[in-house]
Amino acid sequence: MNVPLLATDDGELADRDAFRREVLAGLGGSPRAIPAKYLYDARGSALFDAICEQPEYYPTRTEAAILRRHAGEISDLAGAGSALVEFGSGSSVKTRLLLDAMQDLHAYVPIDISRRHLDATAQRLREDYPGLRVDPVTGDYMALDALPPTIDGARRIGFFPGSTIGNLRPEEAVAFLRRARRLLRADGALVLGVDLKKDTQRLHAAYNDAAGITAQFTLNLLRRMNRELEANFDLSAFAHEAFYDEPAGRIEIYFRSLRNQTVMVAGRRYTFIEGERVHTEYSYKYAEADIAELARLGGFSIAHIWTDPARLFAVAFLTQAQNEKARP
Ligand SMILES: C[S@@+](CC[C@H](N)C(=O)[O-])C[C@H]1O[C@@H](n2cnc3c(N)ncnc32)[C@H](O)[C@@H]1O
Repeated sequence: MNVPLLATDDGELADRDAFRREVLAGLGGSPRAIPAKYLYDARGSALFDAICEQPEYYPTRTEAAILRRHAGEISDLAGAGSALVEFGSGSSVKTRLLLDAMQDLHAYVPIDISRRHLDATAQRLREDYPGLRVDPVTGDYMALDALPPTIDGARRIGFFPGSTIGNLRPEEAVAFLRRARRLLRADGALVLGVDLKKDTQRLHAAYNDAAGITAQFTLNLLRRMNRELEANFDLSAFAHEAFYDEPAGRIEIYFRSLRNQTVMVAGRRYTFIEGERVHTEYSYKYAEADIAELARLGGFSIAHIWTDPARLFAVAFLTQAQNEKARP
């Protein structure tokens, strides 16, 4: 996959600084771990899009089918003239189902940490939706304190699809929901996509696709460290590892060292023994009843929840808990 390398701007230098700090902390810790948000540089975002097209990766097409089927109801619950705020917007593909259905949308605010990918996506949306105001925000949605003032006055409808909430530990998911609640304000709402618990075999296949795209996505983190942190990982000496931990209710993803080796990262030397793993990602799976509890802890309640016939995935319309009724 070819991603052009352009000149680095100030934002990218700040991104790189944070990346260096968190990687060094993560490789110095025990057990070793690197935050999942760093999987998404421009190449990582493009690889994620490719994962979504793999036959084993049921979440994207299942969630899209739910949204396609219920976009009219979501639009009615949101009300005319609202602003759509997406957390972790990626390529905003499923978003188009809502953009097409929502009435008199005030603006669309895609938020993503993957700077160049977000800029390119926003540009494409402006071309495809000439009447729509698109106000992208680059940053970490776990640390965001404000949304663009251009949406002041409009009802704020959050959108957090892709089961990205599953990448957060339960306590982080609650912290995210509380932050989203503040950002979306008292009359706001959140459309949340959640992957449901299911048989281990289907889960295992989804995160170990036969074409090896998820493996490339995991190992892209090593490539990113090589490029941005002057590291010298040999990509052929590490492997992607993903499995479902049923008691914990989560997929766990790692890169694993295939031999004893030493790697330099940002001027520091790290030793890996054969079989040693570095954690990169979780994907928590929820039962439907867990979603209500998660929403409650985050200060929301479920106004409506939709699933597919096989109950693989759920999309919930959450309103702020003190605001029991969804509008209109
Ligand atoms: C699982 S993908 C989902 C993409 C898209 N929303 C979808 O449903 O297909 C997660 C997206 O969230 C972004 N992301 C991950 N962690 C983030 C963070 N902490 N802050 C902002 N964006 C983040 C990634 O760059 C990526 O685009």
